[in-house]
Amino acid sequence: MASIISGTAAAEGLLADLTRDVARFSQVHGYAPTLVAVLVGDDPASHIYVRKKIEQCRKVGMESVEHRLPADCSEEDLLALIAALNADERVHGILVQLPLPAQIDSGKVLDTIDPRKDVDGFHPVNVGRLSTGTGGLVPCTPMGCMILLRSVLPDLKGKQAVVIGKSNIVGKPVAMLLLEQGCTVTVCGRHTRNLAEVCRDADIIVAAAGTPHLVKGYWVKAGAVVIDVGINRIALDDGRSRIVGDVASDEIGHAAAFTPVPGGVGPMTIACLLLNTFRAAEAQSLVGV
Ligand code: GUN
Repeated sequence: MASIISGTAAAEGLLADLTRDVARFSQVHGYAPTLVAVLVGDDPASHIYVRKKIEQCRKVGMESVEHRLPADCSEEDLLALIAALNADERVHGILVQLPLPAQIDSGKVLDTIDPRKDVDGFHPVNVGRLSTGTGGLVPCTPMGCMILLRSVLPDLKGKQAVVIGKSNIVGKPVAMLLLEQGCTVTVCGRHTRNLAEVCRDADIIVAAAGTPHLVKGYWVKAGAVVIDVGINRIALDDGRSRIVGDVASDEIGHAAAFTPVPGGVGPMTIACLLLNTFRAAEAQSLVGV
């Protein structure tokens, strides 16, 4: 039987450690690590995500502030806010919730965030650092995937890994992290031919395609480890809906281990965001010492 890798339990452990570290940090420095979340517009999902991030910060003893801007705000106003947050030494982490309204160039916004405060790890400096293995802040969901994967497979050297999905937020950075750990990595997209066969050779599958139940049981080799990043809402016959992953999890009992949806990668993302905020605050508090 495949074992289930609980992201809920792993995130709880991470947050408990972080609560202790944040208390120590605050005692030493006289201020708490501080995250600012910037929310533009009225997207209901974005409001829920940002509220969860803010609440979780407070639970571990960090400061968190939410800045709301109207949906029709100009790019100039948003860039001015980010410049002010960059210059404010009481702010250690800046997160601009995506997606942004159409009149705003997201790339330009992400480029403006001080890389030392870029707790999402989306700034080109941090992307470059990740791809050259030279530190920097790592995107939260990929970091969560790696923590869960290494909880069941501590040594990844020589493993064959397949990543399905090539987004800047998950697919590409997770591929970089797997490479860094010595895996041989194949990154697949929607147009990959023989996706099932490519997956059947894999010791590790990271599914981040955004397609419900894309990965079937016969795609998964016996003994493989499967990390499911998908969060897909599907309609049920009775009119209700349910969240499912990118993997047909009831078909993969022959895997060694897999992350469930919900309760897998999802809870790790916020925990890793807080970890990044703590690390950013630590790095910034060392400057000038
Ligand atoms: N929107 C969806 N996922 C993310 C994320 O990881 N960070 C930010 N800032 N926005 C998102």
